[in-house]
Amino acid sequence: SVPILRTVAALRARVASWRQGGARVAVVPTMGALHEGHLSLVRAALEQADRVIVTLFVNPRQFNNPADLAAYPRTEREDAAKLAPLGAHLLYAPDVGEMYPPGFATTVSVAGVSEGLCGAHRPGHFDGVATVVAKLFLQTGADLAFFGEKDFQQLHVVRRLARDLDIPIEIIACPTVREADGLALSSRNVRLTAQERQMAPKLAESLFRAAGQLGAGAAFSQALAEAEEAILAAGFARVEYLEVRSEADLAPMERLDRPARLLAAAWLGETRLIDNVRVRPA
Ligand code: PAJ
Repeated sequence: SVPILRTVAALRARVASWRQGGARVAVVPTMGALHEGHLSLVRAALEQADRVIVTLFVNPRQFNNPADLAAYPRTEREDAAKLAPLGAHLLYAPDVGEMYPPGFATTVSVAGVSEGLCGAHRPGHFDGVATVVAKLFLQTGADLAFFGEKDFQQLHVVRRLARDLDIPIEIIACPTVREADGLALSSRNVRLTAQERQMAPKLAESLFRAAGQLGAGAAFSQALAEAEEAILAAGFARVEYLEVRSEADLAPMERLDRPARLLAAAWLGETRLIDNVRVRPA
């Protein structure tokens, strides 16, 4: 089984003992309810580091919607059982009081890359993410950190904060893991009804089709309008955003003059799904 630590002090002591033996340490931050997407990050980390810390913390500061926080799945026992056979070395699962003790007053706020897309629709979300990720980097002192491309804007926010705060950690991005029908794995997928689950893959399908059209030279406006129409026709209630951004820095784009990403958020009933795909110029 995987050891579980709950305090910063115990975590630091464990990492210090690993470091005495010269170990390279990786961290995989998560909010739990682990699925194959998370496990792919853990496997990648195990390939590149001697010791892998998985963190499990449902971070209240990044939930702009209290109902979403309340409904977030909490399955620590099952999560630990999934990590053990992989060979992860430590599960760090602090409680809210350990992470945010009374008097806690600091926010890490990343401008630029956190604006627009999810940042425009989830006020405070990326401040919450940046604050907790900075803390996890500093608490673990890891050399490497693994993040999924599924949350593409988050990946950019995390890269920026590590650079800007001179945190000596290398950020490694891992590809989005999908179900056989294309739906990106997400801890929130369990909230979909059976009928919604059948409609859900249309989001990815529409993005892949639009990315193909864009790569082949289609006008942005037409490819995006068609994709939005297809997503709504599939039964989604609302498309929150659907945008082409530069892969390297998330800057808005009007022409496909560099590697790009097509990113979307859409509501299926009560569930908000996000996804993104690469757009390659032909
Ligand atoms: P969470 O949603 O649990 O995701 C943890 C990590 O798993 C993130 O890096 C995310 O991009 C990655 N991930 C999720 N689904 C994936 C998929 N289908 N394929 C590949 N990777 C996937 O993201 C968070 O938690 C939090 O914001 C966190 C960074 C832990 C800060 O609280």
